[in-house]
Amino acid sequence: MEQRGSPLGRPGDIEGTSKAVRDMFAAVAPRYDFLNHVLSAGFDLWWRRATARALAPLLGREGSLAADLCCGTGDLALELARVSKGRVVGADFCHPMVVRARAKLRRRARGGVRDSRGKVFFFEADTLALPFADDSLDAVTVAFGFRNLADYWRGLVEMRRVLKPGGTLAILEFSRMRWSVMGPLFRFYFRKLLPRIGQAISGVAGPYQYLPDSVTHFPDQEAVARLLREAGFTRVRYRNFVGGAAALHLAEADKG
Ligand SMILES: C[S@@+](CC[C@H](N)C(=O)[O-])C[C@H]1O[C@@H](n2cnc3c(N)ncnc32)[C@H](O)[C@@H]1O
Repeated sequence: MEQRGSPLGRPGDIEGTSKAVRDMFAAVAPRYDFLNHVLSAGFDLWWRRATARALAPLLGREGSLAADLCCGTGDLALELARVSKGRVVGADFCHPMVVRARAKLRRRARGGVRDSRGKVFFFEADTLALPFADDSLDAVTVAFGFRNLADYWRGLVEMRRVLKPGGTLAILEFSRMRWSVMGPLFRFYFRKLLPRIGQAISGVAGPYQYLPDSVTHFPDQEAVARLLREAGFTRVRYRNFVGGAAALHLAEADKG
């Protein structure tokens, strides 16, 4: 299969693309959370919560182990912890993002939030070369990170490798808005206004132009589902949020 991944960097240059992606997120890390919530009008919080809810029956088992990959500042990992009776690890290859995730975890502990205490750990790791044993995880999640991988296929191969047979993968990602009336308005906002607002608030030009560019480049809902099947996942299904502005794909690692 052709190498496909983030449009940053040169096609086929996995190391160069990964470095460009890491540098870009390092530049936006200080304003990342604020901009996320502003630019999505808070919908991103709801979408991550829905992702955690979808995994609640699995994570609610004693001793469950989940990894939130490309975890950024940790929001999905912390949502997973709310429904988990086991452990959640959050991993990202961008140091400033991981620093912020750890700080968020400490703030929650100081604020008396008990649901993540002793349950969540954040560390640096590359999703394309995961430091987990084969067949070791009950669930793997990726929120708004899969689109940024330098090689989608290699990412899926790694995710399937580390999942237990029948373990669940959840990919939350921007997708194709299907609503006929709202669609054009949303695209105008997403492609024209969002990059300007993002640049004005973050003070960095590239990343918020990259966001609509990378979503346009990214496969749509059906194509992601096909990719998952080709990579050895079964029970592939998805649900759209806000008409497809984002989609949550769920799939199970088939190791039969
Ligand atoms: C848009 S942010 C999403 C962060 C977080 N999951 C969220 O929901 O807000 C994408 C993240 O993916 C990370 N990322 C991209 N490629 C990665 C890779 N190969 N390994 C680990 N992290 C990666 C970036 O560093 C960045 O923090």
